[in-house]
Amino acid sequence: MKVSIIGGGGLVGSSTGYALQCGGVVSGICLIDANAELAQGQALDLLHGASLVADQRISAGDMSEVATSQIVVITAGLRRKPDESRLDLINRNVDLFTGILDQMKAAGLKENTYVIVVSNPVDVLTYLAVKRLGLAWQRVIGLGTVLDTTRFRSNLAKRLQVPATQVNALILGEHGDSMVPIWSSATINGLPLEQWPGFDAVCAKEVFDATKGAGAQVIKQKGGAGFAVGLSIREVVHAIALDSRRVLPISSLIGGPYGIRDVCLSVPTEIGCGGVRKQIELALTPKERLGLQNSARVLRETIEQVEARLTGGSKATAVVEGKPAQRAIPRNAWAK
Ligand code: LAC
Repeated sequence: MKVSIIGGGGLVGSSTGYALQCGGVVSGICLIDANAELAQGQALDLLHGASLVADQRISAGDMSEVATSQIVVITAGLRRKPDESRLDLINRNVDLFTGILDQMKAAGLKENTYVIVVSNPVDVLTYLAVKRLGLAWQRVIGLGTVLDTTRFRSNLAKRLQVPATQVNALILGEHGDSMVPIWSSATINGLPLEQWPGFDAVCAKEVFDATKGAGAQVIKQKGGAGFAVGLSIREVVHAIALDSRRVLPISSLIGGPYGIRDVCLSVPTEIGCGGVRKQIELALTPKERLGLQNSARVLRETIEQVEARLTGGSKATAVVEGKPAQRAIPRNAWAK
């Protein structure tokens, strides 16, 4: 399986290439970037390690590679300028993103390609990709809260001094400020987290706050996430490539579960051959369910602003019943 990474020269794109190389599962990794020289340099660096890892075809290329790729990962995006509003940035990123989607189509994107959206605001851009690419919606997958979920598990593990791979806990909803921690089903190797020694309300709050603020913290200290987001993308790519049917909190078009429709956000989703195979609706606590519905409202409002701008008109659809959204613009409006 050949995976092309648009934005492959950048921190997220190149880390994804490295994670896929170390994974050794996919047969081809192609880096595409507006900065062709940078993409070539990253590909060269990866290539130099090939003899120590796996037999993969590693290259840099242009958009024409999309036509021969089974999976296209879009990581390209802009960061906010100091004097820019979030909506300005969303609009600029939307323009860049829709330009990329149009170039992918012009390059001959095949209908059986999988597209993984990573650029921010990821849930909104995933929705745009579903609407514009003409692929089956099951094949358009946003990274959603896969990254937040691994951050959450790793933070819990560190705090409680347990092995990270034995922590099972999910973040669902928006990849942004309205993300929802799912405490009700969290376990440590099957044992209820809520009964674990040392776990209490203070621990819960601190771990969740650290998880929610993790993206901003990493930006502050090293310019942006790379390693963890690369591994998160690899998790999704491998689930498709191996048809493993793993249940992952990716973002996809929701049409009913949890009382939500016509937005992309993260719910537990079975991923394998065909992309989204099943969106799983669990009995959450009322607070968790309301949290998901709040994410849906936040995202729907942003989608409507973006659509109004793209179409030059305005449109208002109630996505869920209840109170108005607490916030209109997702936090992660900066990007890669
Ligand atoms: C973050 C970006 C990758 O959360 O969305 O770090």
